[in-house]
Amino acid sequence: MARIITICNNKGGVGKTTTASNVGVFLSALGKKTLLIDLDPQANATMSLGLDPGDVERGIYHVLTGSVAPREAVKKTHIFGFDIIPSSIDLAAITVELINVKEREYVLEKALKKLSSHYDYIFIDSPPSLDILTVNGFVGAKEIIIPIQCEYFALEGLTQLLSTIDLVSKNLGRKPEFIGALLTMYDRRNKLSREVAKIVRNDFPGYIFDTVIPRNISLAEAPRAKKTILEHAPLSPGAKAYRQLAQELVRRGNTNI
Ligand SMILES: Nc1ncnc2c1ncn2[C@@H]1O[C@H](COP(=O)(O)OP(=O)(O)OP(=O)(O)O)[C@@H](O)[C@H]1O
Ligand SMILES: [Mg+2]
Repeated sequence: MARIITICNNKGGVGKTTTASNVGVFLSALGKKTLLIDLDPQANATMSLGLDPGDVERGIYHVLTGSVAPREAVKKTHIFGFDIIPSSIDLAAITVELINVKEREYVLEKALKKLSSHYDYIFIDSPPSLDILTVNGFVGAKEIIIPIQCEYFALEGLTQLLSTIDLVSKNLGRKPEFIGALLTMYDRRNKLSREVAKIVRNDFPGYIFDTVIPRNISLAEAPRAKKTILEHAPLSPGAKAYRQLAQELVRRGNTNI
């Protein structure tokens, strides 16, 4: 059965999509069969892997509304062992469409049951919100990765998000087995970056990944070239960091830190 990991933070632009696609590709390079689910109507992961969300006829929207079977929505990427279920423009309407659906928080979980035996890892790229899509991600996954940017309000954001996850998991009866926060866009020349990293490690012992993702221009450029960092700049600091994160995930297993 796959390890199912949702990558979430209601704060936008913290590195969720960059993390989901790049850690996934290094896991597939390690020989792990990996699936990325793009659960964000912005479809950034879909586009960065070279698909046009306007052309997607079988994607996560169609799975969540029950019009296609989960296996039918899987697309192979150009990287061996790395598949995607893409987002599409219709996904923006899902919040409204699910309003009258019974057990709407569990729709993704049900779909994942049909996919889990085909993969070693399944990553879910969540939107920057706490809506029904993100909640489906919490419910469907056993593990949660929270990317946090090393900036002034990072601590408050992480505290709030952890209590939201606690509330959601109590109400919906799904307790995550692992929660890890990942420091992203770290700039070691910047004093604030260094201080925030230190405070977060101190205040949340055991919750923070050893791996830190540096601010690295290659990571920002790769999506424009419709490539992952492994293909775009395999020797860059960003590639090195995501390779290390993939190894850390494998090493740590799926129980809480
Ligand atoms: N470590 C990094 N170094 C430099 N740029 C980065 C890094 N990580 C992400 N970026 C860039 O920062 C922007 C935001 O990253 P990303 O899209 O991964 O965040 P996100 O949390 O998924 O955003 P959203 O909340 O909108 O979904 C992107 O332009 C991305 O290329
Ligand atoms: Mg994103």
